Amino acid sequence: MKRMILSAMVAAGVIAGAGVAVSGEAEDKAIKARQAVMQLYSFNLGKLGAMVKGEMEYDAAQAKLAADNLVKAASIGQDAMWPEGTAMEDAGMEGKTWAKKAAWTTYPEVANKHKALQEAAAKMADAAGGGVDAIKAAIGGVGGSCKGCHENFRAPKK
Ligand code: HEC
Repeated sequence: MKRMILSAMVAAGVIAGAGVAVSGEAEDKAIKARQAVMQLYSFNLGKLGAMVKGEMEYDAAQAKLAADNLVKAASIGQDAMWPEGTAMEDAGMEGKTWAKKAAWTTYPEVANKHKALQEAAAKMADAAGGGVDAIKAAIGGVGGSCKGCHENFRAPKK
């Protein structure tokens, strides 16, 4: 009963601060979404890396698929996944995100870094079907673009 009254009050906007709680949830979802995009990058780059290292047999179709996925993942519109107030330095964000405030305060630097990834991924997509050596030649560009953004805008997870 208590809960019903509470949720009715929240729905009616009677409880001050209820809006904050709701937007906190929205922020958590946005953070999870952008981390999920990162996981897609990581998974697909990992396949290509494994082929280069000989941990996975080269397969042109699989390589092309991974590279195309990278291109697609890097073309997902992420604007809504990076709302203001969701940097690790912001209130209540500890343990939820490792994105540094600098990503917002130095904008559009972070967008430039993202563009670098898109370009490197496109080169990888052209190369991936052409054998391990072609992947080897393109993978530094992709990995470098991840690193180029991370070293400025992501803190190590502890
Ligand atoms: C434009 C900047 C940028 C680029 C490019 C970028 N990242 Fe990230 N990455 C971040 C930021 C910022 C975070 C922290 C996100 C958070 O915790 O909210 C992150 C987090 C991650 C994580 C941790 C995700 C999690 O579940 O917590 C992984 C894995 C990752 N990146 C992999 C990659 C790989 C692989 C690439 C390249 C193919 C890449 N990233 C390219 C900015 C970037």
